[in-house]
Amino acid sequence: MDAIEVIVAKRERRELSDPQIDWVIDAYTRGEVADEQMSALAMAILLNGMNRREIGRWTEAMIRSGTRMDWSVLDRPTTDKHSTGGVGDKITLPLAPLVAACGAYVPQLSGRGLGHTGGTLDKLESIPGWRASLSAEEMLAVLRDAGAVICAAGDGLAPADKKLYALRDVTGTVESIPLIASSIMSKKIAEGTGALVLDVKVGSGAFMKDVDTARELARTMVDLGADHGVATVALLTAMDRPLGRAVGNALEVEEAVEVLAGGGPSDVVELTVLLAREMLAAAGVSGKDPADALKDGSAMDAWRRMIGAQGGDPDAALPRAAETTVVTAPSSGVLARLDAYGVGLAAWRLGAGRARKEDAVSFGAGITLHARPGDAVREGQSLMTLHADDATRFDRALAALDGAYAIGDAADPALLPLVIDR
Ligand code: URA
Repeated sequence: MDAIEVIVAKRERRELSDPQIDWVIDAYTRGEVADEQMSALAMAILLNGMNRREIGRWTEAMIRSGTRMDWSVLDRPTTDKHSTGGVGDKITLPLAPLVAACGAYVPQLSGRGLGHTGGTLDKLESIPGWRASLSAEEMLAVLRDAGAVICAAGDGLAPADKKLYALRDVTGTVESIPLIASSIMSKKIAEGTGALVLDVKVGSGAFMKDVDTARELARTMVDLGADHGVATVALLTAMDRPLGRAVGNALEVEEAVEVLAGGGPSDVVELTVLLAREMLAAAGVSGKDPADALKDGSAMDAWRRMIGAQGGDPDAALPRAAETTVVTAPSSGVLARLDAYGVGLAAWRLGAGRARKEDAVSFGAGITLHARPGDAVREGQSLMTLHADDATRFDRALAALDGAYAIGDAADPALLPLVIDR
């Protein structure tokens, strides 16, 4: 078999056979298929698609390119959540310890931010001492101690996806439902979780800009999970405006801690509790309700154990950016809309995100929102505070916010409901 045969088959809109898929993924992982050949194939897949059988086999081959973790030594079910990514989406931070406090284990492998969306590991690394890289033995020890662990995937987990995702990122081949679904699900299935809840984001700040495409992605991933014995549920949720009031690494950790302390913005609390209930139900665990675990301090206890077990100091002061500037309301009325992409891009330009994989992020950079769509505002009132280590970043961040918000008589009726579908 050779790479050209496989590329031409997909270019000519033919179905790839199981042996073709198995071979190309294995040969790419070993370095026999070159990056330029794989990027041609990824583009052919993006343009011509794959059917359910091909997506299933592609996912299977990516899982088999590495190791599959096994948590069967644990005495309670495992459950996890994956978000397709958004602006201000810090839900994993309070969610993992919350679900642990309600009786399931949460072994979560997370990623870093790239572009305008943040990454869970970057957020947690703003906590002094916290370590993202753990061995399988360390993961198990943290799970046993805290009930939840959030860490980086080791090199042995779906290495084919690691190579392919980096390639897609620089060849304009990310936005393909078969490639996104197989990428996410190969990692989640290899992670060994027994149940999985997918939070598929919809709107300007998400990969999926419209509900129909998001629904197709969700359906594809739920089917892949079921094929591999992982009880999988998907919710479609709003990402047309940022989630909560904080966007940026340390700022989002602060907000997550507020939620664990029984406070926090209502949309973050609502989604955290809803996803926790779904995760517990998918794992077949009933007992304490997540809303109670936020109030009685048990979710906060699990958070403190989880952070401490990974070397972090849950009581340490979080990094703060040196410079701030305030954006004020140009008129009185109601904040009609606040575009997630514009806010995400501004936070990225402030230093909260990275342009290239090897870049460092600024932990203190980001945006604090003082008004959310639907809130009444007065002319001159502060709408948001921008935080950066270096004041020269403000101009480009302010340019990203140009046109990203509007003041009118009422909230824009086109705003999506927080939970669109299940
Ligand atoms: N996240 C992933 O892990 N893979 C994709 O393809 C897109 C988002």
